[in-house]
Amino acid sequence: MPDMTSTKIPMDREGYRRELREHEEQLSQAASDPMRLKYHLQPPLGWLNDPNGLCQKDGVYHIYHQYVPFYPTLCSVLWGHVTTRDFIHYEVQEPAVYPDTDRDRNGAYSGSTFLKDGTMYVYYTGNVRHTDREYDYITGGREQNTILMTSEDGFHFSEKKLLMRNEDYPSDLSLHVRDPKVFCENGRYYMIQGARDLKARGSILLFESEDLLHWTYKLRFHTEKTFGYMWECPNYLKVDGQRFLIACPQEYRSKGETLVKDNWCGYFPLNYDFEGTAYELGKYHTLDRGFDFYAPQVFQDEAGRWILLGWMSTPDAEYDCEVTMKNGWVHAMTIPRELYVNGSGRLCQRPLKELEKMRKTVAAGHFQAGEGFREEVSSCFELKLFMEEPDQDFELYLRESVVLRYRDSVLRLDLTGCGAGRGVRGVSLEEVHDLWILSDTSSLEIFVNGGEEVFTARVHDSMEGLRAEFISEQSGGMELYELAV
Ligand code: FRU
Repeated sequence: MPDMTSTKIPMDREGYRRELREHEEQLSQAASDPMRLKYHLQPPLGWLNDPNGLCQKDGVYHIYHQYVPFYPTLCSVLWGHVTTRDFIHYEVQEPAVYPDTDRDRNGAYSGSTFLKDGTMYVYYTGNVRHTDREYDYITGGREQNTILMTSEDGFHFSEKKLLMRNEDYPSDLSLHVRDPKVFCENGRYYMIQGARDLKARGSILLFESEDLLHWTYKLRFHTEKTFGYMWECPNYLKVDGQRFLIACPQEYRSKGETLVKDNWCGYFPLNYDFEGTAYELGKYHTLDRGFDFYAPQVFQDEAGRWILLGWMSTPDAEYDCEVTMKNGWVHAMTIPRELYVNGSGRLCQRPLKELEKMRKTVAAGHFQAGEGFREEVSSCFELKLFMEEPDQDFELYLRESVVLRYRDSVLRLDLTGCGAGRGVRGVSLEEVHDLWILSDTSSLEIFVNGGEEVFTARVHDSMEGLRAEFISEQSGGMELYELAV
């Protein structure tokens, strides 16, 4: 296994090709794991985390991601590469970015793609850890270099160009500055980066540029009170005329029923026109109630849709990932989700329209008060529910032992029976109007009230005797589909 602290180059393209030939057996072992997902992106072998460089070029979606190709553990990451035209069929390509220089030798960390006149500008963080003596890796011993590569086709890349080093970021910052995301506003180029300052306060740095190469620091977005010690993977989007910043504040703790863990991920409405330096961050909303969602990236496709993909896991999870690790692979990406703003100004998520092509059989109907329904399902299904009395309690059994329970105005997802250590997560809601659920062999994605709230989780049940059973005094409508790729 590569040593994460090594000062040698851990893997270049040649090294990758060589090792690939040595791992055929492990690749087929991973492929035969019953927990392999049917319509989610997952590593053939090894480790996957954040989505990177998402874009669509000439009809093809390029999805890069943090990737350790042969071992199910985070060490010197490179950028895996997958392409798709329909978000149902994926083609795994050879990895795109390798930690093969002195500027990124301990990881080609997360970043983004900006498309200009058909050229892809790929920005990422080159991570370096020095090991010549003891460091805290916060104020010493680390480099986080902003690096640019360009590409005309998404497969072949230019030389790496170093754009900024820690010395180029504001002097009150720690060495944690990473995950560049580049965009254009009012005809000017901007880059945001996640940061931790020397007082352990998280923020997002804003840089501007005339030419996509030379960047000047402009300001930083932060909350008045400290809100997590580091904000990872920032995103900016302007959807339905409203601006938002997405961030993953580390060690942000929410109280009460939201029951979130330390690392979380959410969005702020942003009031800023990119003139001057005065801005306002609106109320923070969690993007997902868990258990497995982090480091999402958003991008606008050729049709102008804002699409989000997230890492279907979370760093330092207290529950078990061993379930698939024993077969040599771990983690997956969420389904692609389209973003929109609802009537209350909330950023909402819904499954991308393309996924409807997987629908095979359907059971649909109206259920009367007290009747509910019970249907046998396979592990890959989609269920849509519309409630006629949205404040009425209910219990929805999904799969073998997963329960979604609405009681006392709290919606709780209970994975105690098959969560490999995951317990219960919940959110206070006055009403539940609708549910839209996608189940894959070992995952569940639950969109509540038009996707204003979402639960994303990996599940590890036996996949036998699966059922969708709804128990309530409530009446409403349901649609149930078996899904097949
Ligand atoms: C978030 C993150 C990023 C970093 C990457 C390293 O999950 O920690 O901040 O760039 O993962 O793999």
